[in-house]
Parts: sequence; C-alpha cells; structure tokens
Amino acid sequence: MDIKEVIRTRKSFRTFDGRELSQEDKDALAAYAQTIENPYGIPVSFVWLDAAQYKLSSPVINGEHFYVAVKVPKVPRCEEALGFSFEKLVLYAWSLGVGTTWIAGTMNRSRFEEAAQTGPDEFMMVVSPLGYPAAKQSFVDRRLRGSVRGDERLPFEQLFFEGDFATPLLDCDDAVKDALEAVRWYPSAANKQPCRVVKAGDAFHFYKKGSMGGANRPWDSQKIDMGIALCHFMSVAGGVLSIADPGIAADAEYIATVTI
Ligand SMILES: Cc1cc2nc3c(=O)[nH]c(=O)nc-3n(C[C@H](O)[C@H](O)[C@H](O)COP(=O)(O)O)c2cc1C
Repeated sequence: MDIKEVIRTRKSFRTFDGRELSQEDKDALAAYAQTIENPYGIPVSFVWLDAAQYKLSSPVINGEHFYVAVKVPKVPRCEEALGFSFEKLVLYAWSLGVGTTWIAGTMNRSRFEEAAQTGPDEFMMVVSPLGYPAAKQSFVDRRLRGSVRGDERLPFEQLFFEGDFATPLLDCDDAVKDALEAVRWYPSAANKQPCRVVKAGDAFHFYKKGSMGGANRPWDSQKIDMGIALCHFMSVAGGVLSIADPGIAADAEYIATVTI
C-alpha cells in the first residue's frame, strides 16, 4: 500500500479478533517508533502496555491485549507535535495490518497515566489499542461509528480555500488535490473535523475552526487533530512547516503553514 492508500483505508478499529499482537509486529512498531520525528522538534514518547498486566481496558474496545500510551512534555504546541508523531505510528501500524483507535476520552485515564509512568512535566494525552481487526464489529463499535458518522467527512469545498476564507479552492493540480484529500480523511476527536486550509501559492495555511467544549483538560484536543491533519498533508506532499500568521481574516485559529 502506498501512503495515500494507507491514509484512505485506515479507520478506527474498536473490535479486535482476540489474538495477541505477534512479537514480530511488536518489534517492528517499537523500531519504527524510534525513528519518528515531527516538524516541531518536540519529543513524543510511546509506552507499550500489556492490558492484562496493568488491568487496562476501554468501554468501547473489545478483544484487545495490548495498548500504546503517548506522552509529550508540557510545552507550547505539544498537542500538534503529539498528533503528528502518533499519527505516523498509526499509519505505520495499519500498513502492517495492525488496527488502532485514538482514545482520549473513553478510558480509565488515571490507570493508563499510572501504567505509563507519566511524570509531572508531561502529558499522557491519548492511548490506542494495537491488535488485529475482527471480521465483525461489536454492537458498541457499530453504535459509536454511527453516532459520530465515522465513515463520512465534510466536502472538499467546505474545508479548503484559495487566498481567503470566502473563496473555496476549486482548481488545483493533482498533487495538491491528493494531499488535501489525505487531510480530508484525517481522524479527529468525535469526528468534528476542525482543520481548514487556505492555499496561497505554494503556502498552505492551516487553521483550527470551532472548539470541542465539554472535556475539561489542560490541553486542546483539537490541536491534536491539527497535528494529525498536518501529518497527512506532509506525508503526501512533503514541504516545510513554519509558524508565521499570514493575517488572513478568519473565524478560526491560525496553527501553522506548510510550504511545498
Ligand atoms: C484526538 C482524538 C481523540 C479521540 N478519542 C476517542 C475516544 O475517546 N473514544 C473513541 O471511541 N474514539 C475516539 N477517537 C476516534 C474518532 O472518533 C474517530 O477518529 C472519528 O470518528 C473518525 O473515524 P475514523 O477514525 O474511523 O476515520 C478520537 C480521535 C482523535 C483524533
């Protein structure tokens, strides 16, 4: 599978077939994790956790034996860095046939934080099960996917713009279209899809629109989503990330620019 296909076929798997993750896949994931970098230069660490050993579970996950917890130092833009780096691992896992689900809410957070030995200067923002998808989804899985419309995404013209937010991006070359289509299929918390992109020549300005509300956390979950969107874009189009607000009038928060 090439990266575009990995991105397009990945989805959240919440029902696993009960098999242990093979040692070969564990080793491959651990080796790949060592190589992951993000354009923020913020270190993101992965902690591999045996579910039985630490009594870990999630009310929406079935048939799993193994989790990964993701930690980041408490520094500015740590959410985007974590989103970017963990999505790299998620995509790599799927290229091996290993299913994942980003989980920030539906877990016993304190138990996972303790198992991951989370220090006072770091956040453990998300975890994911790692396992082999079952042929049939559990009832909870089906109901959850349905409630967040997990198989759907907003249309291209509501997400991507040219020059300003008043002008939908209607015409661009195939390479740009592919990269933006990869952004369209990023996973986001509750499938809220906060990412908007304004194209200005070779520069692509990434904005976060809306807010989650509810979850009372010392970080912004939708900035994690933005890191994932940036990962998808840069995995397909490459480019260099910079942070220099172009001052485009927007009902959205500027996050970063990728120049290709
Ligand atoms: C930051 C983040 C947090 C998430 N938290 C949860 C969660 O707590 N529980 C859950 O079942 N899914 C969670 N999800 C998965 C989303 O619901 C899912 O990605 C979205 O509905 C799109 O579906 P897909 O991943 O199958 O494409 C989370 C996703 C992200 C990116």
